[in-house]
Amino acid sequence: MLIRTDMEKPHKFNGYILAAGHGTRMRSSLAKPLHQVGGMAMLGWVIETAQKAGADQLCVVTSPKNDQVADYVNAGYADLMTARQEQALGTGHATQIAHQAIPQNDNPILVLFGDTPLVTAETCQRMIARIAQGEDVVVLGFEPDNPTGYGRLKCDEDGMITAIIEEADASEDDKAITLVNAGVMALSAKAASEYLSAISNDNAQKEYYLTDIVAIARADHAKVGYVIASQEEVRGVNSRNDLAEVEAILQNRLRRNLMASGVTLQAPDTVFLSGDAIIEDDVTIEPHVVIGKGCVVKTGAILKAFSHIEGAIIGKHTVIGPYARLRPGTELGDHVKIGNFVEIKKSQFEEGAKANHLSYIGDAHVGAKANIGAGTITCNYDGYDKFKTNIGKGAFIGSNTALVAPVTIGEGAIIGAGSTITKSVADDDLSLTRAPQKTLPKGGASFRARKGK
Ligand code: UD1
Ligand code: MG
Repeated sequence: MLIRTDMEKPHKFNGYILAAGHGTRMRSSLAKPLHQVGGMAMLGWVIETAQKAGADQLCVVTSPKNDQVADYVNAGYADLMTARQEQALGTGHATQIAHQAIPQNDNPILVLFGDTPLVTAETCQRMIARIAQGEDVVVLGFEPDNPTGYGRLKCDEDGMITAIIEEADASEDDKAITLVNAGVMALSAKAASEYLSAISNDNAQKEYYLTDIVAIARADHAKVGYVIASQEEVRGVNSRNDLAEVEAILQNRLRRNLMASGVTLQAPDTVFLSGDAIIEDDVTIEPHVVIGKGCVVKTGAILKAFSHIEGAIIGKHTVIGPYARLRPGTELGDHVKIGNFVEIKKSQFEEGAKANHLSYIGDAHVGAKANIGAGTITCNYDGYDKFKTNIGKGAFIGSNTALVAPVTIGEGAIIGAGSTITKSVADDDLSLTRAPQKTLPKGGASFRARKGK
């Protein structure tokens, strides 16, 4: 779904992703970089951005206080390296750790933060391109509404950065500077090998600041440049409130990309998307639809209001909702219709099949053009095991039927309304279970007469 603006011959680089900070303000047992936005851990977004930008080798700096981050990287990204920073002594120290861990080559370095997930691959490439053009350090700057807390970019008369002053070390004059450091930084191979190790912790916080590399490079007459990003792009996360704001920015980005790619969102602000969604052109998404992880929606499909889908494939011109719930493993063919209050789990619907009202279909296969009546339930679970239901093509399941799995309904078979079906039904048979209906002539009138006395 993300639109790729294909970058010409991306420059190679090694990416260091710093993710060893404590993140105490999240008040969470989950490591901060693993909190999700757009259906993926923040760290995942950073890793995939770096990969998309053309990273050659990637190393994630992790904390020994919490193995979750290293576990996440090792489980999901086998070709990435992790390096443990035994003590969180600062961003400069974390960068040194990554630099020692990664096999050295002539690539420039890009330092990214695991809690700043919205930085784009284009921005990464813009920074690396500047290194290729001869700068040794390239800083990512931005102008926030409120610069408090950020490192200030100190410039000379020529507009070149001479130093970055951290908030804790800033004078009143420094604090008046409105151009600040977003944290992302590109270093030439030379800067990484010569200046990184010169960073000390001689400052107010007794931390090794990566930002000190600017003054060190300038003292050696190296070129230091900067690239500007929008405040939105470099939004970092320190708290749950920040997380929600980053989610909002990301959702807007995903919605805009979708619309640009030919999808109609009738009320974009109410639609929630997972970043991995694949949604083809001419899909219509009505208000209040939630699209979770692992969904594919094919061309011409309509997702009506208040539908919730996750791990589902939706075929061409298929219509779901309003109020449909598709759970993981749902595969709907083309021209399928799933109506209101229908829940589907781990089931396939072949072309033209329908379940229009109030049903639960789980662990089932539904043949082409089968019609599932209102209130049909596949009883797929006996409290211990799950069982399959097979419904043949063109079968008709009457309303309020319980299909007790394992059970097969043959092609073209008809099930009478209100049945509890426990035995398989052959092709074209008609099957029903129903207590005989008893009618007492004028029984209603005599009941009222008795009661009304
Ligand atoms: C940093 C920058 C500051 C910039 C700001 C933008 C430095 C010294 N300062 O400050 O100029 O304006 O980001 O948000 O770089 N981390 C480690 N190990 C450590 C310390 C940090 O891995 O020892 C990681 C954190 O997990 C985080 C990132 O580095 O992902 C940034 O660290 P943080 O403490 O948030 O830096 P800031 O004080 O915000
Ligand atoms: Mg920070």
